[in-house]
Amino acid sequence: MTKLHSHGSSLPIPSFPHSLIAASPAPPFTITMGRMDRPALCVQCRARPVDPAWRPFCSRRCQVFDQARWGEGAYRVPGRPAAADDTDPSVTDGKQYQVPIIDGTIRATDLKQIKVGDEDVGLATYDPAFMNTAACRSRITYIDGDKGVLLYRGYPIEQLAEESTYLETAYLILFGELPDERQLAEWTHQITMHTMVHENIKKFMEGFTYDAHPMGVFVSTVAALSTFYTDGKQIFDDQARLRQIHRLIAKVPTIAAYAFRHSIGRPYVYPDNELSFTGNFLNMLFKMTELKYQPNPALERALDILFILHADHEQNCSTSAMRSIGSSHVDPFSALAGAAAALYGPLHGGANEAVLRMLKEIESTDNIPAFIKRVKAGDGRLMGFGHRVYKSYDPRAKIIKKAAYEVFEVTGKNPLLDIALELERIALEDEYFVTRKLYPNVDFYSGLIYQAMGFQMDMFPVLFAIARTVGWVAQWEEMLLDSEQKISRPRQIYTGAQPRDYVGMTERRK
Ligand code: ACO
Repeated sequence: MTKLHSHGSSLPIPSFPHSLIAASPAPPFTITMGRMDRPALCVQCRARPVDPAWRPFCSRRCQVFDQARWGEGAYRVPGRPAAADDTDPSVTDGKQYQVPIIDGTIRATDLKQIKVGDEDVGLATYDPAFMNTAACRSRITYIDGDKGVLLYRGYPIEQLAEESTYLETAYLILFGELPDERQLAEWTHQITMHTMVHENIKKFMEGFTYDAHPMGVFVSTVAALSTFYTDGKQIFDDQARLRQIHRLIAKVPTIAAYAFRHSIGRPYVYPDNELSFTGNFLNMLFKMTELKYQPNPALERALDILFILHADHEQNCSTSAMRSIGSSHVDPFSALAGAAAALYGPLHGGANEAVLRMLKEIESTDNIPAFIKRVKAGDGRLMGFGHRVYKSYDPRAKIIKKAAYEVFEVTGKNPLLDIALELERIALEDEYFVTRKLYPNVDFYSGLIYQAMGFQMDMFPVLFAIARTVGWVAQWEEMLLDSEQKISRPRQIYTGAQPRDYVGMTERRK
C-alpha cells in the first residue's frame, strides 16, 4: 500500500506487522514434559555446536521449534540445567499442561504450575539478555526487524523523517497522536520556556576537568537535576509528571551544549527562544561573538531528522534501564541519568564513536580486506553493523545515508565516507555478514554526519541522548501507568557453592 502525500511524494506504508502485537487470544497450547537429549547440534540448522548453557538453538538465533522432533503443537521446555537432570524421572512423567497464548506470548508465571520436584517453586524461563522475553505491553513504537519496519505510534519512520519535526514527533510519541496547530504551538511554547537551567548547574559543571567526557558530564548533570526539582518525586501527580517531562526534553540540549562548550573551553551560551529546538541547540553549541546566531537551515534540518530517527526504539538497553530504574518509583531525573549511562556503552549509543575510530584505524580502502578478515576471525567487530532486532537493513540507516549527502553539500565530504561506503559494499557481499544477517545500523553513518557538522566524537552519545529523552520519558510514563507493572526484579539460576560453614583464617588453604 502507498500513500500520496500533499506535496506529491509517494512513501510506502508497511502492511500491518504480524508478531507480538495485541491480538485476540489463540487456543492454549500444550507443553508435554518429556525427555530431551542434549542436542550436539542446533535443532534447527544442525550446523553449529550448541553452547554449554544447553540452549537448543545455535548462536545464529534459530527460532523455529523442531516440531518433527518434539511432536505437533508441543514445545519441550528443558529442565533447569543447574537444578535438574533431564534423565530425572520427575521431569519425564509425560504430564501435559495447558498454557494460554495471549498476544503471541505465554505468561512466564503460567509455567510455575509445572513442578520438576516436590519442593520446586515451579518452572521458570531462562533468557539471558532478554532474547525472547516481552517485559511490557507498549503502544509507542513498533519494529519488525525482519522487514526493516519502524513505526512511532503507527506512523512509518520514513514519513516522519520527511514530513515532521523533532518536537512534533516528540508530541506524537508522548501523547499518541499528532498535535493540531494549537496543541503544537502550546507544546513548543512549553518546551521553549523550560530551556534555561539553574545558574548553579553552571557552577556544578565547572567542577569537571577540562578533558571530562561530555557524556559523563551529561549523565551526572541530569542526575543532579533531581536535587533542583524536588517535585520530581511526585510521579503519580499528572501535572507534576508533565512538568518534569517538559523540563527534561527542554533542558537536555542546554546541558549537552554546556558539556560541549566546557570541553572546548568556551563560555556557555544561553538559550535563544526565537530559534527552533535544533536551531537553538546549534546556537548554544557554536555561537561565538555575533549578536544573533543564525543556524544553517540545511544543518538545522539534518540534525532535526537525526533527532527524529533516534527519538525512540522500543525496549532497547537504555529504555529497559529507564523502565527498570523507574519501576522503583524514583524521580525521572535519576531514572533518566541511568538510561543515559546505559546509552554510553560502545555496544549501544557509543557505537557511532566506535565506527569513526574504526574507519580512522582502517585508514584507506586498500586496508579493508585485511580488516574484514580480522573481524571474521573474531578479532573485533565491524562497528555500526548488526542489531539485536533488525535482521535486515535498519530503516534509519537508509535515511541517514541520504541525509549525509545533504550535509556534505554544505560542509564538504567527510574523507572517511569512501572507506565507509566500500566497507559496506564488501560486507554486504560477504558470506559471514550475510548468513548472520548483519547490516548497517543507525550508527554506521550518523558519526560521519556529526563529525562533518563540527562535533567531536565524544559528543555523539550526548546527541543521541538528547533525541532519546522523549522515548525514555514516554516509556517511563507508560510503565508507571501500567497496572500490570511492578518493581523490576528478574530471577536467576544459582550456580554457586552449596551451603558451607565459615572457615577461619588459619584453617584456609591447608
Ligand atoms: N561484526 C562482526 N560480527 C558480528 C557483529 C559485528 N558488528 N555483530 C554480530 N556479529 C556476529 C557475532 O560474533 C555472532 O557470531 P557467531 O554466531 O559466530 O557467534 C553473531 O553475529 C550474533 O551476534 P550477537 O553478538 O550474538 O548478536 P547480538 O544481537 O547480541 O548483538 C549487537 C547485537 C550488540 C548490536 C552486535 O551486532 C554488535 O556488537 N554490533 C556492533 C556494535 C554496534 O554497532 N552497536 C550499535 C547497535 S544500534 C544501537 O544501539 C543504536
